[in-house]
Amino acid sequence: MDSPVLELRKLSDVPGTSGQIQPLGLPAFERANSLAKPEDRDDFVAGRIALWHFAAALLEVDPARLVPDYRCPRCGPGQDHGRPGFLLDGGPAPLVLSASRASGWVLLAGVVHAPEELRLGVDLESTGKATFEGFDDVALTATEKRFLSSIPDQERDSQRARLWARKEAWLKMTGEGLRRNPAELDVLDLPGLRDVTERALPDGLVAALALG
Ligand SMILES: CC(C)(COP(=O)(O)OP(=O)(O)OC[C@H]1O[C@@H](n2cnc3c(N)ncnc32)[C@H](O)[C@@H]1OP(=O)(O)O)[C@@H](O)C(=O)NCCC(=O)NCCS
Repeated sequence: MDSPVLELRKLSDVPGTSGQIQPLGLPAFERANSLAKPEDRDDFVAGRIALWHFAAALLEVDPARLVPDYRCPRCGPGQDHGRPGFLLDGGPAPLVLSASRASGWVLLAGVVHAPEELRLGVDLESTGKATFEGFDDVALTATEKRFLSSIPDQERDSQRARLWARKEAWLKMTGEGLRRNPAELDVLDLPGLRDVTERALPDGLVAALALG
């Protein structure tokens, strides 16, 4: 099986964000409009457009043939959250996707013509974000805390972000998201889960990929 294609886009460089929300469907339109801050709305729309064009490029089809098809393990299809996907000409597009936005960037991952059971999760994190007071207690397992205490002080914040990216990538792969308690999920050594190292990320960002 092919390894996932990864693409990193700057959200402000995604073209056509004002005119293109319509083809992304009514649920996405409503979600965009529910976001209070214009900058959050712009980032959401740009992330969705970037994913739409990424999917069309991987499938080598005109984007107009793709309609978003999000599936939440709890709520099912027909809404606008959960695992991203598309319908191609009305049927399921042969594509497994994941996406993550952070600090003005979007990281996209996809596998075309994947085996039906393949699942994929990707997460992009800002190293400044995982450092709030009490993070270790709400987010880390005892083993992960021991790991952090074994490394030099100055590396801890970036390692916290790295662990958090791994957790979110894994939880997107399983589809559970943060409905599962991250403090009970040890991500130091899980098969199929790794840091994204094959491409350079902007300073202050880390990323992880889960495939299984
Ligand atoms: C999945 C989750 C961890 C992502 O967190 P985040 O750091 O805020 O956001 P990111 O930018 O990294 O990722 C967002 C993307 O993850 C994907 N995603 C969301 N939920 C997902 C799930 N359950 N499984 C797989 N992928 C998911 C979507 O592509 C989403 O993009 P969108 O904002 O355009 O819809 C978080 O949203 C979560 O835990 N969600 C589950 C809880 C939930 O949605 N409850 C309400 C409905 S039951």
